[in-house]
Amino acid sequence: MAEDLKSKQMTTDAGRPVGDNQNSITVGNRGPIVFEDYLLFEKMAHFNRERVPERVVHAKGSAAHGTFTCTHPDMAKYTTAKVFEKGKKTPTFLRFSTVGGEKGSADSERDPRGFALKFYTDEGNWDLVGNNTPVFFIRDPLKFSDFIHTQKRDPETNLKSPKMMWDFWSLSPESLHQVTILFSDRGTPDGYRHMNGYGSHTFSLINAKNELFYVKYHFKTKQGIKNFTREEADHMKSVDMDHSQSDLFHSIEKGDFPKWTVQMQIMPEAEAETYHINPFDLTKVWPHADYPVIEIGELELNRNPVNYFAEVEQAAFDPKNVAPGMGFSPDKMLQGRLISYPDAHRYRIGVNYNLLPINEPKCPYNTYNRDGSMRFGENGGNGPNYEPNSFGGPTQDKKYIERPVTYNTATVGRYDHREHDGDYYTQPGNLFRLMTPDAQERLCGNIAAGLGQVETRIQDLQINHFYKCDSKYGEGVAKAIGRKIEEIVRKEELVHA
Ligand code: NDP
Ligand code: HEM
Repeated sequence: MAEDLKSKQMTTDAGRPVGDNQNSITVGNRGPIVFEDYLLFEKMAHFNRERVPERVVHAKGSAAHGTFTCTHPDMAKYTTAKVFEKGKKTPTFLRFSTVGGEKGSADSERDPRGFALKFYTDEGNWDLVGNNTPVFFIRDPLKFSDFIHTQKRDPETNLKSPKMMWDFWSLSPESLHQVTILFSDRGTPDGYRHMNGYGSHTFSLINAKNELFYVKYHFKTKQGIKNFTREEADHMKSVDMDHSQSDLFHSIEKGDFPKWTVQMQIMPEAEAETYHINPFDLTKVWPHADYPVIEIGELELNRNPVNYFAEVEQAAFDPKNVAPGMGFSPDKMLQGRLISYPDAHRYRIGVNYNLLPINEPKCPYNTYNRDGSMRFGENGGNGPNYEPNSFGGPTQDKKYIERPVTYNTATVGRYDHREHDGDYYTQPGNLFRLMTPDAQERLCGNIAAGLGQVETRIQDLQINHFYKCDSKYGEGVAKAIGRKIEEIVRKEELVHA
């Protein structure tokens, strides 16, 4: 407990000093409680409202404050963003999470890990809301709720369901890349300090000459990658459900501050037109051989939250929050997320969520948005609440106008991404091939643990996909669930018959 609280007079929420916090007001020693016990009713009513809805995804999380230091000598080549001035230190808040579990679920579940970073820059908050993987399961936000339903509980049994997961994945082969990462050793990191983070989407940076560069962000752990095997992860659930929370909190508490090297891949605007991979497809990476990473800085976590609810539970990350000198990209998933997050926050913690101290910008901010539920602070005081006005209210400055984007004359419609890019297999195959034989075997075993429980028709479809990534991948999974590859893969496609 904070020292300064120890000797203070306890009061009600309205400030009335409390005389007795141990005994309710009753009619006589053994009698019933009376209505005028305002203290009892205030405590009970407040307690009943202690929970806000948990996040619909990423409900279980841990976070810490830190600092991003830009070390790159000349980021001005790419951007006017102040966060990227050489030597600049920007306060940050990083929330890690698992995705599919409830708020009380185990930290060692096989799941992607969230890596949500808030940079409190001098020109507004920049939120980079990424994961510990560079890609995602789907490429169109229209499929997000369908996908997430498969990761949550079965509507009938209320159990997690390998059937739902593999049914969806086998019918959505664009998921193969992320599925391969998820079932690899990196699907069960040993705590949050020992994993990488990725912005995942393609974003843009804009320099003073108004030139645009597409970029991807990578955060490489300085603690080294450390993962649990499937058996270790399962064991950890029974030993310490909150292993990652505990590991993060205690290492920061003892001064062992975790750090990440921050890197970027950079693609000049014109190259996006001709690059052989769609650079805005979230199921694909930009291979390092094509776009090498450059180091731009270091992220350090060095301060634990003092109050979990105020800082971690009420934190609201918005992928739409970018600073001047930054922008988005045509990535459909990113576009969907720009709308989804603020909508989720308004539902979960209310329309004025940006005023909560953890979300409030640390630079001056002046908007004409007013009122609404739980509008605390001065609410704009007696200043004008409309714009334009002739009373000295805040005004626009055209230097901050977003850079216009040109889209060639194109027809509006529902384009089937499967007709335009059916190569689901090359990149997951590349990943499989860079794994050691041991890691490949663990990958196949991890997959088999769930896929082995579902109907054979779903197994067949999924193993055919794995086979197309790499014949050894398909064979490995078939073997791990006790099936013969010849019975699964069509004869004309068998390489190793
Ligand atoms: P590289 O050989 O240059 O890079 C391989 C990357 O794979 C490294 O970043 C490595 O991370 C990472 N990696 C190693 N094991 C795993 C795993 N089990 N799960 C996820 N990532 C892993 O090859 P390319 O750039 O050509 O990419 C080949 C494949 O590597 C891709 O298809 C993709 O699956 C994966 N990858 C690529 C990334 C990229 O941005 N290009 C980023 C992350 C993964 P580390 O350096 O930390 O060991
Ligand atoms: C949390 C939607 C894709 C990373 C959330 C939340 C929603 C959501 C509604 C809960 C927000 C809250 O209540 O605070 C979506 C939609 C997506 C999508 C609609 C696709 C169209 C992604 C992708 C990533 C990602 C691709 C990573 C690359 C996260 C993280 C959180 C989160 C890290 C937790 C943030 C925190 O710590 O508070 N998402 N998401 N999401 N999402 Fe997504």
